[in-house]
Amino acid sequence: MGRYGALELADLDPVGPGTPSGRYLRLFWQPVMRLKDLPPGRAKPLEILDEKFTIYRGDGGVPHLVPYRCPHRGTPLSLGWVEDDALRCRYHGWKFDHTGQCVEQPNEDRPFCHRIAMKSYPTREYAGFIFAYLGEGEPPPFVRYPDLDRPGVLIADPVEVLPCTFWNRFDNDHGHRHWVHRATALRRNRPDVLVLHHEAAEETPYGWRGVRMLKGDGPDVETSMGEIVKGGRDRAESLMGLAKYTHWFMPNARMLFQRTRARGFEGRELWDTKVVWTVPVNDTSHAAFDVTHTPLEGDEAVAYEKSRTEQQEAEAETRWDLAEKVLAGEMTLEDLPDDIGGYTSFTIEDYCTQVGQGSVRGRGREILAKGDEGPVFQRHLWLREVNAMTEGRPLTDWTLPAETFTTQTNL
Ligand code: FES
Ligand SMILES: [Fe+2]
Repeated sequence: MGRYGALELADLDPVGPGTPSGRYLRLFWQPVMRLKDLPPGRAKPLEILDEKFTIYRGDGGVPHLVPYRCPHRGTPLSLGWVEDDALRCRYHGWKFDHTGQCVEQPNEDRPFCHRIAMKSYPTREYAGFIFAYLGEGEPPPFVRYPDLDRPGVLIADPVEVLPCTFWNRFDNDHGHRHWVHRATALRRNRPDVLVLHHEAAEETPYGWRGVRMLKGDGPDVETSMGEIVKGGRDRAESLMGLAKYTHWFMPNARMLFQRTRARGFEGRELWDTKVVWTVPVNDTSHAAFDVTHTPLEGDEAVAYEKSRTEQQEAEAETRWDLAEKVLAGEMTLEDLPDDIGGYTSFTIEDYCTQVGQGSVRGRGREILAKGDEGPVFQRHLWLREVNAMTEGRPLTDWTLPAETFTTQTNL
């Protein structure tokens, strides 16, 4: 992809403060940690947007985000103790309230706490994650997603950290599915996953919408196994259902739909709504914060949550080891164990192709084609907005519709 004003895509890899992408992403609330990964009364180090922080939850559970290092002599505040809503440094016991104001210097005969204040960042809890605003000045209004706010089960998955630029996840368009996930489709007897298609894009008030387009326009469809399925178009379209659409919310969230894959619920016409925020950890790795809404209530909701959570937490540990073995050529994706869950094998397959791509600059010149319409559109929007920001021109004020995207309630 060529230049846009003074920028080209490779200029958008760095995400630290002052970089084009870093400045743009800091204009929006970002998820930084899963709530259940940070118990009340606990502090942890956090790296996000190529900056280090200390994140902690007060004894009452309220999350707070402050700088990584103590302003006294620089020891990590994440080593310290949480006391109510304040944090005490482990090195010399200075204590800071949740606004970053120093309130105690126990070793000093003449404390001068009132002169010591560090920054603290606004935080919010939503959809099982802690969000923070890392930019300057007042934060923008917090964006809620009506589809996630409906009655149903919300499950925030273990945060996926992949050692590659966030662009590799953005670029993961629908044209990959029937190739990257071929092994899983065959293992799990899902011939529908193998049908050839690509993604078309159109701009919307919230970003853009991707539409999956089956290859060709006759009644037949082709698969990535080289088969022609006679008269298969209607069935392929109806199997796609809600999954035909992906909604991209600028700058870095997207919503997609899939039939639920949790064990015990696979055969049902039950649709998950998934929202994924892709947030750079630094210039060479990114985190995917992924929450799924499933329209179940009562006992079914409890059973579903148990099945899905057990399966994913159990497999989260080992999956990247398997992916690295595949990348190293020690095994193939076809060699993954047969009993591995569908969710896990999909993520291993995506890991291999995305991490294997490396950085935008490092992979050299790309040859883009009509089938790459989705990623090209996404890159175009980002370059347009970031270029406007660096030139001091007004930015698009992205807005979400007030109603849900999942209007077909029987799906
Ligand atoms: S370094 Fe934190 S109190 Fe001294
Ligand atoms: Fe994928």
